[in-house]
Amino acid sequence: MSWAVVFGLLAALLLLLLLTRRRTREAFLSTENLTPCPTLFILFPASPNGDKCCGFCRRPGEPPLDLGSIPWLGYALEFGKDAASFLTRMKEKHGDIFTVLVGGRYVTVLLDPHSYDMVVWEPRTRLDFHAYAVFLMERIFDVQLPHYSPSDEKSKMKPTLLHKELQALTEAMYTNLHTVLLGDTTEAGSGWHEMGLLEFSYSFLLRAGYLTLYGVEAPPHTQESQAQDRSHSADIFHTFRQLDLLLPKLARGSLSVGDKDQVCRVKGRLWKLLSPARLATRAHRSKWLESYLLHLEEMGVSEEMQARALVLQLWATQGNVGPAAFWLLLFLLKNPEALAAVRGELEPILLRVEQPISQMTTLPQKVLDSMPVLDSVLSESLRLTAAPFITREVVVDLALPMADGREFTLRCGDRLLLFPFLSPQKDPEIYTDPEVFKYNRFLNPDGSEKKDFYKDGKRLKNYSMPWGAGHNQCLGRGYAISSIKQFVFLVLTRFDLELISPDVEMPEFDLSRYGFGLMQPEHDVPVRYRIRP
Ligand code: HEM
Repeated sequence: MSWAVVFGLLAALLLLLLLTRRRTREAFLSTENLTPCPTLFILFPASPNGDKCCGFCRRPGEPPLDLGSIPWLGYALEFGKDAASFLTRMKEKHGDIFTVLVGGRYVTVLLDPHSYDMVVWEPRTRLDFHAYAVFLMERIFDVQLPHYSPSDEKSKMKPTLLHKELQALTEAMYTNLHTVLLGDTTEAGSGWHEMGLLEFSYSFLLRAGYLTLYGVEAPPHTQESQAQDRSHSADIFHTFRQLDLLLPKLARGSLSVGDKDQVCRVKGRLWKLLSPARLATRAHRSKWLESYLLHLEEMGVSEEMQARALVLQLWATQGNVGPAAFWLLLFLLKNPEALAAVRGELEPILLRVEQPISQMTTLPQKVLDSMPVLDSVLSESLRLTAAPFITREVVVDLALPMADGREFTLRCGDRLLLFPFLSPQKDPEIYTDPEVFKYNRFLNPDGSEKKDFYKDGKRLKNYSMPWGAGHNQCLGRGYAISSIKQFVFLVLTRFDLELISPDVEMPEFDLSRYGFGLMQPEHDVPVRYRIRP
């Protein structure tokens, strides 16, 4: 290597160091124009504004800044390794609002749940949610949509997940859960079957969810067409799951060469399975799918790109539901008192419905809405396992008023991150023994839903946020909740389900999944199940 190259490299390194260090309270220049660290792309995608609008000085009123000890990278490694532990440490050091440098990005972290409303109800022109969606589309799922307008898409898709369309989805889901769950088990023969509980919950829910949203084999609804639905949806799940397992690495840009080949193969296969031409032959397609395809066509999106968008949607709509049901069932299996309480709630329901349960074709919404114990169990499971990053792009310089009267200034081009998993969900001031599963935590003594939780003596509006909150709160939550409840209902009423080792410990989280939504376990938990004799 020549001396000129060595000097060049040293100079570049020095410049980098200076740029990183100089965004302190008094100093000048920021590193906004540097490329963000691929390790943290999942969190902090590039600004849609190209990061050009940012000011140069650290300004008065900005939150405490912590640059970490590694120039430019800042806290990228610690953040990527275990975001919850890192943010807990930072909270102890700086309080409930601070800015950290993470792979060339300045990320302001807000952990005061009383102040979350100031963020989630801000208009898009000040704090933008969609930069993240566009990033997911492009970087992870290779989707580029010409003339893409997230608000236009949202206004078209929202009605397809609510009211009578939600009712239609719920009914179709019950039929499809029957097809895959009871159909597969019957086909496998009588007696006990063994499987991992995550695989059990994720596969049956994703397969039924796929059939509900993307359609079934052409009618008539025969035994043969149901068998085809079962094998096709199993193919979809197994292919999808290979991609899902690599997603954290894919998002962080840390795939090995072998992983990259696999991702390419799996994506290619999913694009074929979900191509508009293949979907055109399917029956009972949901209003959601019809509207989404029409929206893509109106934007002039090619068939190839439509298939990619449909794979992205499969992940967005199905990636959290199965893992949520896994944790819920596992908490029940590990807590006999909770399981007995849920069973005790289902028994009178079964007595009230006129037909035998094996002949029921739907579970009316009225029935689904009258399960407060199961609702509490679901809320408690989600409190303990839902860990999405709520990120917003700061689009203009703005003042962020906090609930306690303090005010901080946020800089255009920075990221704002809320992490409700730490607070409110795991906050010991709000929940006694926050690590412990208490099935009736969200129940009042009279059996109604408990909604009053307090911090600093003040009642909280956002006391758990698995679905986000504000303008961008999850649009599919009604459908997700009814899917999970119907699945649990069927499992508990039609099946015997047991842990193979009753003393098995709750598995640790796969720490690479913080930020994606529902956590997944580090390893699966073996169970056995059979249709009730
Ligand atoms: C257990 C399952 C699910 C969980 C935990 C979940 C959670 C979330 C979260 C945390 C957000 C982002 C909120 C934010 O950043 O402010 C979100 C957004 C969204 N979710 Fe879900 N979700 C689930 C299932 C679904 C399903 C089944 C669908 C559709 C069928 C869906 C559709 C959406 C949509 C469209 C948005 C974006 C809303 C917007 O653009 O404003 N989700 N979800």
